[in-house]
Amino acid sequence: MRRLAGLSLRQRLMLGGAAAGFGIVLVAILLLVLTSTTDAADEQPIKFSHQAHAKNDISCQFCHVGVTHGPVAGIPSVEKCMGCHSHIATANEEIEKLTQYWEKQEPIPWVRVNRQPSYVYFNHYSHVAAGVGCGSCHGDVKTMTIAEPVVEMNMGFCLDCHAEQENKDALYDCAVCHR
Ligand code: HEC
Ligand code: HEC
Ligand code: HEC
Ligand code: HEC
Ligand code: HEC
Repeated sequence: MRRLAGLSLRQRLMLGGAAAGFGIVLVAILLLVLTSTTDAADEQPIKFSHQAHAKNDISCQFCHVGVTHGPVAGIPSVEKCMGCHSHIATANEEIEKLTQYWEKQEPIPWVRVNRQPSYVYFNHYSHVAAGVGCGSCHGDVKTMTIAEPVVEMNMGFCLDCHAEQENKDALYDCAVCHR
């Protein structure tokens, strides 16, 4: 601060202004960072709550049918939603949006939450058949109002669990996941 002593009032005001300007930029950057990392889900076209459906005992498999037979879990169609929402919670604002997609016969552009690089092979059914619950990889989705990843599903994460399996040698083979 001593260096300021030799400056005129005008110069001091300019310095103060620059500092304040810098402060504003910092706050703006902070806000940007905060808002961009909080809600993956504000991006979702409809606020879909897993919790609301789990409370009504609708099973994961009922909507993510693919887990019972193949690699991809799958997201339910608008038609499937309407099977219930043509008569359930029809006054809800989000259900009104849903109904508009249905009337226009347009798919809902859900934003993907989990995605593996294309060089990784993953299969839901092998895991479900081996008794690995959805929660081991996706966390407690039943309590989520917004579906978000709870762990980073990197190679170490996959291998840690494979290492605990009886046939771990087979499951460690690079070609199991990189075909
Ligand atoms: C009523 C239908 C319905 C039920 C029941 C349901 N889901 Fe979903 N699920 C959805 C829809 C729609 C999305 C896409 C929107 C979103 O990401 O929130 C989704 C998304 C997800 C995602 C993120 C997908 C991605 O983009 O990577 C996971 C993981 C998931 N569900 C797991 C589960 C689990 C586990 C259960 C059971 C506890 C379950 N779901 C029950 C409809 C359902
Ligand atoms: C098997 C019936 C069923 C299906 C299929 C279904 N829902 Fe629901 N949904 C419900 C029930 C029951 C509720 C709770 C209603 C209540 O609490 O008043 C609900 C609530 C909701 C709500 C309001 C949630 C809240 O925050 O209170 C939204 C939005 C919603 N569903 C969207 C969807 C979408 C999108 C799909 C398709 C991906 C879907 N639902 C499929 C039965 C279903
Ligand atoms: C062993 C880990 C693991 C388990 C167990 C698991 N998932 Fe996943 N899930 C993943 C991975 C990895 C992805 C991303 C896959 C990709 O990008 O190809 C994913 C993606 C998804 C998606 C979005 C993409 C898609 O395949 O449609 C949904 C929905 C989903 N999982 C639901 C479920 C449900 C429901 C269960 C339980 C029945 C479950 N998962 C069990 C690892 C798992
Ligand atoms: C919580 C434990 C667990 C985690 C986490 C896990 N796996 Fe598995 N994985 C298993 C089990 C159990 C089997 C089945 C072993 C068997 O059938 O003998 C398996 C089998 C496999 C197979 C062989 C079956 C097939 O479909 O070809 C592949 C590939 C595979 N896992 C990929 C992955 C990938 C990729 C990840 C990470 C995204 C992952 N796994 C995470 C437990 C896990
Ligand atoms: C159980 C499944 C599984 C097995 C077995 C496996 N990997 Fe991977 N590997 C993955 C996943 C998942 C990723 C993607 C990681 C990510 O997204 O961060 C990956 C990524 C990689 C990458 C890219 C790394 C990077 O940082 O970009 C290389 C290289 C690789 N694996 C080599 C191998 C080799 C070599 C082996 C055998 C010794 C092997 N992997 C076995 C699941 C597996």
